[in-house]
Amino acid sequence: MLVNMRQILNNARNQKKAIAHFNINNLEWTKYILEEANKLNSPIILGVSESASKHMGGYETVYAIVKSLIKSLNITIDIVLHLDHGSSYSECVKAIDAGFTSVMIDASKHNLLDNIKVTKQVVDYAKQKNVSVEAEIGHIGGSEDGIEGQVLLADINDCIVFVKNTQIDCLAPAIGNAHGVYQGEPKLDFELLEQISKETNVPLVLHGGTGIKNSDIIRLIDKGITKININTELQISWSNSVREYINKNPDIYDPRKIIKSGEESLKKVVREKIELFENR
Ligand code: 13P
Repeated sequence: MLVNMRQILNNARNQKKAIAHFNINNLEWTKYILEEANKLNSPIILGVSESASKHMGGYETVYAIVKSLIKSLNITIDIVLHLDHGSSYSECVKAIDAGFTSVMIDASKHNLLDNIKVTKQVVDYAKQKNVSVEAEIGHIGGSEDGIEGQVLLADINDCIVFVKNTQIDCLAPAIGNAHGVYQGEPKLDFELLEQISKETNVPLVLHGGTGIKNSDIIRLIDKGITKININTELQISWSNSVREYINKNPDIYDPRKIIKSGEESLKKVVREKIELFENR
């Protein structure tokens, strides 16, 4: 069933677990992720960036794909269809109107007051439609949809003021995390995370989940992370398998066989992340 993030994040927070957010890019990835999560009986968040949505034909198409797959594959777990890094109020409204059950408004490039203003606007609209809202404080590093960002740690006071004034459902604070492949060891500020969790009392989101070692993931969850975003690791594992398959089978041209050759490695990442995040 399609749901918003509120209940499942609050449940996860109470149980000291995290919910996996997997970014999707096409019909096949969506199907593989749904099948694997359903097998494990675990709720998941399907993250769709603005550019992934364009690639798939727009928000309505993405919604139709997810909705129909849930029905035709008999998916019984809770699924959140979530706009990842919505860049403006109007973009969030478009996703909500198309049927998305959750949005992230990323106005972190603005100063605190403007970030609060646009986020609150999104929250007010989303609430009427029973849609959950995530927002960002500080700057998460690396590249998101081709936009390069410098790491800027979240300020604890900003986080407190921000959550109080926006009434968001979950917060993505920059704690040294970055999108894409980390250059060297990630330098995560666990103390800051713990403080933010204590002072804001909302579920916290970790962007840039790829490349963080398992022991650190466990520590992050223990200190308040409740949603973990994974994109790059899915891309790397899927494309490595497809590349190997094409190299081994140079005469193959059936796109279904080519795309499917990455299915098992993609599902393996999904399985391992869910098991890790749920501490199984
Ligand atoms: P990675 O690409 O580093 O896994 O991060 C994904 C993400 O945070 C999407 O918002």
